[in-house]
Amino acid sequence: MRFWWLCLFAAPAWAGTPDGQQIALHGNANGALPCAACHGVTGAGNPAMGAPALAGLQAPAIVNALNNFAQGEGGNAIMQSIARSLSPDERTAVADYFANEKGKGP
Ligand code: HEC
Repeated sequence: MRFWWLCLFAAPAWAGTPDGQQIALHGNANGALPCAACHGVTGAGNPAMGAPALAGLQAPAIVNALNNFAQGEGGNAIMQSIARSLSPDERTAVADYFANEKGKGP
């Protein structure tokens, strides 16, 4: 049994921990649009769409923004509906993903 350790990596997925990169690139089953479509794969932002850069922001700042949007505070209608489609755990996971990106590339 050589690959028993794979279970250690797979376990969080089975436990239901959300995957931030998965949400950023593909959205979630609850209807959240992929962040990357507007903010870029690495969170560099897209001025043409008015989507600010997320890369390099502190994770708690991103979570705060999403929490505010979900309560209808700030942002636009699209961001508010996306934030409402994310569970608190998913907001944390996707915030961690972008906080660790450098914003280089597309
Ligand atoms: C349809 C395009 C679109 C998608 C998809 C999208 N965003 Fe946004 N996002 C925007 C726009 C536009 C703004 C600017 C809103 C404003 O200030 O009016 C924004 C603002 C934000 C902000 C505030 C940043 C700041 O510095 O104020 C955060 C955080 C954010 N989005 C996170 C996300 C996350 C996480 C996802 C994916 C779950 C996502 N967005 C998906 C368009 C999008």
